[in-house]
Amino acid sequence: MCGIIGYVGHKQALEIVVAGLRRMEYRGYDSAGLAVIADGGLEVRKKAGKLSNLEQLLGEDPLPSSTTGIGHTRWATHGGPTDRNAHPHVSSDDRIAVIHNGIIENFHTLRTELEAAGVQLESETDTEVVAHLMAHTLPEVGNSLPLAMQAVCSRLQGAFTLVVVDRNQPDVVVGARRNSPLVVGLGTDGNFLASDVSAFVAHTRHALELGQDQIVVMKADSVVVTDFDGNVVEAKPFDIDWDASAAEKGGYELFMLKEISEQPKAVADSLLGRIDENFRITLDELSIDPAVLQHINKVIVIACGTAAHAGMVAKYAIEHWTHLPVDVEVASEFRYRDPIVGPDSLVIAISQSGETMDTLMGLRYAKSQGARTLAICNTVGSTIPRESDAVIYTYAGPEIAVASTKAFLTQITATFLVGLFLAQVRGTMFEDEIRGILADLDDMPRHVDLVLDTAEPIRELARSLASARSVLFLGRHVGYPVALEGALKLKELAYMHAEGFPAGELKHGPIALIEEGIPVIVIVPSPKGRAVLHDKIVSNIQEVRARGAQVIAIAEEGDESIIPFADHIIRIPAVPTLMQPLVAVVPLQIFACEMATGKGHDVDQPRNLAKSVTVE
Ligand code: M6R
Repeated sequence: MCGIIGYVGHKQALEIVVAGLRRMEYRGYDSAGLAVIADGGLEVRKKAGKLSNLEQLLGEDPLPSSTTGIGHTRWATHGGPTDRNAHPHVSSDDRIAVIHNGIIENFHTLRTELEAAGVQLESETDTEVVAHLMAHTLPEVGNSLPLAMQAVCSRLQGAFTLVVVDRNQPDVVVGARRNSPLVVGLGTDGNFLASDVSAFVAHTRHALELGQDQIVVMKADSVVVTDFDGNVVEAKPFDIDWDASAAEKGGYELFMLKEISEQPKAVADSLLGRIDENFRITLDELSIDPAVLQHINKVIVIACGTAAHAGMVAKYAIEHWTHLPVDVEVASEFRYRDPIVGPDSLVIAISQSGETMDTLMGLRYAKSQGARTLAICNTVGSTIPRESDAVIYTYAGPEIAVASTKAFLTQITATFLVGLFLAQVRGTMFEDEIRGILADLDDMPRHVDLVLDTAEPIRELARSLASARSVLFLGRHVGYPVALEGALKLKELAYMHAEGFPAGELKHGPIALIEEGIPVIVIVPSPKGRAVLHDKIVSNIQEVRARGAQVIAIAEEGDESIIPFADHIIRIPAVPTLMQPLVAVVPLQIFACEMATGKGHDVDQPRNLAKSVTVE
């Protein structure tokens, strides 16, 4: 949510900043803007809409050369997506430019105070107050940017990553971080500050993690990190283990198509090194003592959106393997009720970005109650793993399309490893049982590959259903979260009414939605798993067909018994029951992508959304 980049060095800032914004545009695309310091003055260009609008403006009104710059892509919170509300915001004396990610909750009080002092604010944003406060504070602190930043931060409430430049100090960029992401890139020709490493990975793979409430003072050849009181702190260095090409389309028309196609590798990479030659789980990075895991009496998964659907799949598996109760909670609800969580609970926070504010706040609440916390995350160095007791990274590689695809499969894979590890240390399964499941899991990349190779029928189906007003998704058992995920993909990409239901729940109300011709996509459980689930879903299919629905069955290869009950059948490989989500979701991702493409939507950057949701 909002992408931020700052650069100071020996190269032209403009190209670096624009390229960084291009890589971070998935974080928000309501407006884009940048500022450079040139010839003792601030030069700002900003424009509502996508980055291409800003690029066009830069063509019409070019910037002078400069080696210090900042840039921003916006996901609007305070104030509409207009030119005026676009960042950077500038102080009245044109001295300070600021960009911001987060929400300054007390901006109204600060704004009133500034207005009373005669400052005229130009925008409706919460951010602009920071530019004016910085300009007013600088003379009081001997024009020291870090001291001014400390003073201003002490007045702000809420979440903020701020990056500031001062026309009078062209060789320095200052950043501050509270509750929103910011990382430092250490280059040989200059240094970088950005919301995420993709912004600078083309220039350097060496980075520094910034902690909570830290300020970074960056020059071309130095980076100093302090806390909000000015005490120097040592930031943790890390190396980025993928290169810039991983965050490019690589010949695909869309990031989403590329990411769907990467799913077999993403699952394989997430298993790599975690199963030993004897098919035992070796989660070396799990820094929670097995003795602690033996004594927990409850697992709570907190996550949002797609990650929460992965958590729901995990519930079926972990309860089955460990006999531990598993609650799955949408993170935004978790801490606002009175959840039963304490030292005997293992709280698993699942997040692709590692920055989702709802999940982060839920995690902090769980920690405050003494729970053991484990992050399942795709972004090294991000906040959620940093604040958890332990982390299992997924190795999906950068996920750029706003709609999550490969992250979902790797999140399920990682939760399965955790579940089996719990079963291993708690002795709830025989070793040969665990070995068998791991061997099945190891085989999943091949099955996912097969689904990708045989995806044409689902694309054709999406094209034939282009005029549908609504699509319903039904599932039972692990098929239920898959149904939810299928509906979420269709909503966010095709902007259609879509809903996922547990198939048995339909008759308790939602069946009233069924009308002549409505497409109902049913994830059919394997008849070889729990036969009763298959029988029950056939009954549910009959119920909707009797009322005019056209049924599209996602059914395993060899399930002939489904043929009489479906209008269309999309075949997926026969895999063990608990693993079916890994193959069943793939046609639904392709379906949504094809539907959205047919409607002419921007698949990678759907309207109103942002990839990393860093506000509550
Ligand atoms: O980065 P996270 O995994 O924490 O993100 C959680 C959700 O915001 C995310 O999964 C969202 O639902 C996706 N856009 C869905 O495709």
